[in-house]
Amino acid sequence: MKYIIANWKLNGSKSLLSEFLNQFATHSLHNYVVLCPPHLLLSDLDNKHIDNFFMGSQNVSEYNNGAFTGEISAEMLAENKVFHSIVGHSERRTLFSETDEKINIKIKQLLSNKITPILCIGENLEQRNTNIFKKIIDVQLEEAFKNIKIDDQTIIIAYEPIWSIGTGITPDISQIIEVHEFITTKIKQLYPKNVNQFKIAYGGSVNLKNYHTILSSKAVDGVLVGGASLDFRSFYEICNFKN
Ligand code: PGA
Repeated sequence: MKYIIANWKLNGSKSLLSEFLNQFATHSLHNYVVLCPPHLLLSDLDNKHIDNFFMGSQNVSEYNNGAFTGEISAEMLAENKVFHSIVGHSERRTLFSETDEKINIKIKQLLSNKITPILCIGENLEQRNTNIFKKIIDVQLEEAFKNIKIDDQTIIIAYEPIWSIGTGITPDISQIIEVHEFITTKIKQLYPKNVNQFKIAYGGSVNLKNYHTILSSKAVDGVLVGGASLDFRSFYEICNFKN
């Protein structure tokens, strides 16, 4: 079973969501699917009858409650039965000043509310071209999990090279595998007893032409899909990946 995650970003509407939910309710799923629409649409959640289908948040506050205008806490997500959340997406890191330190606090908030974090990491083009991408990923992982103990929770890590997001350019499958294996090695160092709880997905310009090659690799546990997840037919085909 692979993890297929949709990131709608600042897109979608009530009618698009209800089209997706209606379609998913009548089609069976054999992969693990998480749909992350904008927060307001999470309240339309009515998917109890859809096997292997879950809703997720695109972000979470580092705060629990208090005078933090515009924020949504992990506790509020859990109260609304949202048990998955993207954290540290590169758009939040670059456009909303999300630091490794904040991401670390957000992961703690998620885990203490039994929410599966979908942690995004990845290098920019310059870091790739100057061959320091593994160092960047190493630091991102080290900082994200600083002082975090995990018990039996699943944690999804999405390797999303920034130069691939929304560009139509994807790394070669060998480059994806290289980074996924690097991440696995790092996780073995950080959490030797919990390695199997970590799932490593790839994100960045996943589409109908490339998803099969990417998901066919044993090193890839799933995909995080942006643009192509806004069209039901495309997304559903990806959701139905079979080896
Ligand atoms: P994309 O976005 O599939 O449109 O490249 C992926 C992401 O940002 O998660």
